[in-house]
Amino acid sequence: MARGKFITFEGIDGAGKTTHLAWFRERLEAHIAASGRSVVMTREPGGTALGESLRELLLHQTMDLETEALLMFAARREHLAQVIEPALAHGDWVLSDRFSDATFAYQGGGRGLPRDKLEALERWVQGGFQPDLTLLFDVSPDTASERRSSAREPDRFESESDAFFTRTRAEYLRRAEEAPYRFAIIDSTQSIPQIQKRLEELITTL
Ligand code: TYD
Repeated sequence: MARGKFITFEGIDGAGKTTHLAWFRERLEAHIAASGRSVVMTREPGGTALGESLRELLLHQTMDLETEALLMFAARREHLAQVIEPALAHGDWVLSDRFSDATFAYQGGGRGLPRDKLEALERWVQGGFQPDLTLLFDVSPDTASERRSSAREPDRFESESDAFFTRTRAEYLRRAEEAPYRFAIIDSTQSIPQIQKRLEELITTL
């Protein structure tokens, strides 16, 4: 069977990606049901037992910025080796809630880690590997902060300032400009039906 495709979902906290990811998965499963392929859902940081342990630390434990970036990429290396690569080789489609663009956006844009360090880690961990498609749910930090759930205690990232998310969003948009062939920017202020229409078009194209 031909190699599967790798699709990533990105955006600042509160952009609505989780809602759309669930819908996208259902629609994609319906489209490929007859092909004998499966859809594998995963997330970063996380996706493996080791990655989920690192996620717990990354979301709740204070640490040096470089440690944070290194742990994000360490979790990613494990995720690629244990989950993403084998699934794609098997012909399955992999949907990931965040991937490397998040490290550029959050640790680079948000926290200010120099880009050349992140580019070196990206080359080391991924070689030339990149998603086939990245959906960037784009929204202003104002709207995102209104949408962020207050149901539970915010983690280390969710509790960041609007200024942090302004820089994070700008870096996401810069990454999209740098690689327009793999990015689809979704205006996340649109209604849910409007966004679903766009997602359905993207699935058909794929
Ligand atoms: P998120 O994907 O928003 O999950 P949930 O919806 O369960 O809160 O949480 C992951 C957080 O990790 C998010 O705030 C962004 C951050 N993050 C980084 O800072 N760098 C990264 O490389 C990745 C993958 C995530």
